[in-house]
Amino acid sequence: MDSLKELELERIGNWSKIKIEIIKKYAKAYTTILKKQEFKFKYIDAFSGAGEHISKETGEITPGSPLVALDVTYPFREYYFIDLNYSKLKHLEIIIKERYPKLEERVKLFNRDCNEVIPKIIEEHVSYNKFERALCILDLYGLQLNWNVVEKAGKNKAVEIFLNFSIMDMNRNYLRKYIEKKESGEKNRMSKFWGNNSWKKIGWEDKQSLFGIEKIRQQKVWVKIVKEYKKKLKKVAQFDYVLEPLLMKNKNNAPLYYLFFASHNPIGYKIAKDIFSKYKNNYGS
Ligand SMILES: C[S@@+](CC[C@H](N)C(=O)[O-])C[C@H]1O[C@@H](n2cnc3c(N)ncnc32)[C@H](O)[C@@H]1O
Repeated sequence: MDSLKELELERIGNWSKIKIEIIKKYAKAYTTILKKQEFKFKYIDAFSGAGEHISKETGEITPGSPLVALDVTYPFREYYFIDLNYSKLKHLEIIIKERYPKLEERVKLFNRDCNEVIPKIIEEHVSYNKFERALCILDLYGLQLNWNVVEKAGKNKAVEIFLNFSIMDMNRNYLRKYIEKKESGEKNRMSKFWGNNSWKKIGWEDKQSLFGIEKIRQQKVWVKIVKEYKKKLKKVAQFDYVLEPLLMKNKNNAPLYYLFFASHNPIGYKIAKDIFSKYKNNYGS
């Protein structure tokens, strides 16, 4: 692909624009603070996409997470962009060449599965003791993220994450299938996302029936699942600070995803909390 016109950009709703706005605000604060303290700060975008989208509401081109990170006043020392989709990554590469020539040398692009690439990037390029720090964006549409990536990020102690936890995909593909068909596969996508199959035990309650006590799945089981995921981020991945996730809904009030933020830094936590608070009741709640 030689020109930017060949890729049909994705159309995104306001709920995605809000997420990108949150990342933009946080990246601005993060880079400003770490610059003053002379840290080597890096940016890892695990599901980077093409760099820009079309707004469903206005029809205009709107930046994606990679561009908001490239646009900060104090650029990151290194940028890692990963996407499985070759055309999207190529589009992003062209944008960087054309619009950010000064940052080109700092950028590494990977047309690979982020589950394979991220652990290596963290291991080789983010060392707490060498004053390296990283902001890692895990912005997936579904459940394509393996738990070990999140755990690796948390235990590293120098990585902060934003994570898009897709309720819609989880509900549609896993919870319902499991409830309806009693799916037994241990290696399904949800179990990889969770790290094991213990999510299957969450959200059952006893109900008296003609035949005695029956186990039934609770309504809105995903609320419980998200709560447990938050606990896992603290206890298993060992993030010191995990913010109450922001629930994003569509115009019809249907829940779409939860945006998580986890960090080891109390200042980062406070900043992210302030940012999240501004988006409650604005598709988020
Ligand atoms: C929600 S979009 C990312 C949007 C981007 N963060 C933004 O704000 O512009 C998710 C992207 O993840 C990519 N993707 C899906 N599975 C992946 C995987 N296992 N590894 C890397 N990229 C993946 C898709 O091709 C898609 O471009």
